[in-house]
Amino acid sequence: MKFFIDTANLDQIREANALGVLDGVTTNPSLMAKEGIKGTENQRQHYIDICNIVDGDVSAEVIATDYEGMIKEGEELAALNPHIVVKVPCTADGIKAIKYFTSKGIRTNCTLVFSAGQALLAAKAGATYVSPFVGRLDDICSNGVDLIAQIVVIYRNYGFKTQVLAASIRHTQHIIQCAEVGADVVTCPLSAIKGLLKHPLTDNGLATFLADYKRVNG
Ligand code: E4P
Repeated sequence: MKFFIDTANLDQIREANALGVLDGVTTNPSLMAKEGIKGTENQRQHYIDICNIVDGDVSAEVIATDYEGMIKEGEELAALNPHIVVKVPCTADGIKAIKYFTSKGIRTNCTLVFSAGQALLAAKAGATYVSPFVGRLDDICSNGVDLIAQIVVIYRNYGFKTQVLAASIRHTQHIIQCAEVGADVVTCPLSAIKGLLKHPLTDNGLATFLADYKRVNG
């Protein structure tokens, strides 16, 4: 399973990358806004800065919602760096744009996916990744992990190459649940990745080992 970090914060990306287990980054317009990155030129430079930190895929989302606009913007984003994956919303124009990008060898991440039907269309269009939003489904009393499991089965039934990228991960347990049902990728906040490391028996065990070493060796 690949680990992506879901942020546009360069310090957090550097910290996750330093762990040595980071495979990529996902961003979205809200995450870019959170970092105060304004204007097309600054945003594009920010994507390049992210690509220079991580040796992996970096999702950059189009703002255009019409087919022609998505194509123009997506081609510009893809030209910024070979690591860029063009993130496209799961709309009719988005699906058409994914089909076009696929034919041009431009990799895509179909985002804002909340149903198996949407995921099926994304795969048919040749998306590199599909991003079902786990946390946002949980927020409305649905079950995000169940959707991941359903999409994994459907893709396996037909041998679709589209990778299931579990997005909107809110906590560490989501990562484990998505791993159990076969997600290809999870994109998570840094806190959820760090949560995987936490165990009191590890902390206590290490403290005891060090205390015993000190007692004998001084
Ligand atoms: C990732 O690609 C999504 O944009 C992101 O995971 C959404 O997460 P949120 O629901 O926490 O905003």
